[in-house]
Amino acid sequence: LEQTFIMIKPDGVARGLVGEVIKRFEQKGYYLRALKLKNVERELAEEHYVDLKSKPFYPGLVEYIVSGPVVAMVWEGKQSVVTGRKIIGATNPLQSEPGTVRGDFCIDVGRNLIHGSDAVESAKREIALWFPEGLSNNKPFLKWIYES
Ligand code: GTP
Ligand code: MG
Repeated sequence: LEQTFIMIKPDGVARGLVGEVIKRFEQKGYYLRALKLKNVERELAEEHYVDLKSKPFYPGLVEYIVSGPVVAMVWEGKQSVVTGRKIIGATNPLQSEPGTVRGDFCIDVGRNLIHGSDAVESAKREIALWFPEGLSNNKPFLKWIYES
């Protein structure tokens, strides 16, 4: 089954929205494969957003990610990458639909609460980056979610 990397950014953790985010992924039927609360080293934040290095907001973005603990997660299930992005909503929260995490809980693009992988390949890269120790082998009760 497909895996995606979801991270609740420092503002989401500080504002007490961890449970709210987890609830939405759980209710959809995705399986929480891994989770950790983590203070992010600058090198990790820089590597995570390496594709955006040339953007003017990159230094501020790195500062944002290292500013407090984040919750790093791996969620598993059919089309978890694209559906995870739908649950999260558009990058700019002023354009995110109500009913999405960003649409419901934030305003500024520079404080948009949550990250989700944008493709299966980036999910693989990000999971390897954030969980170098690997994932445990626990299998969920998938028979309650998937017909086959
Ligand atoms: P992530 O899930 O965090 O990767 O967001 P995204 O995939 O929706 O957007 P993208 O990867 O293009 O940008 C990564 C992050 O950089 C965004 O989530 C924002 O936090 C930040 N960002 C993107 N565009 C802007 C911008 O124009 N201004 C500022 N201040 N931050 C931005
Ligand atoms: Mg992105």
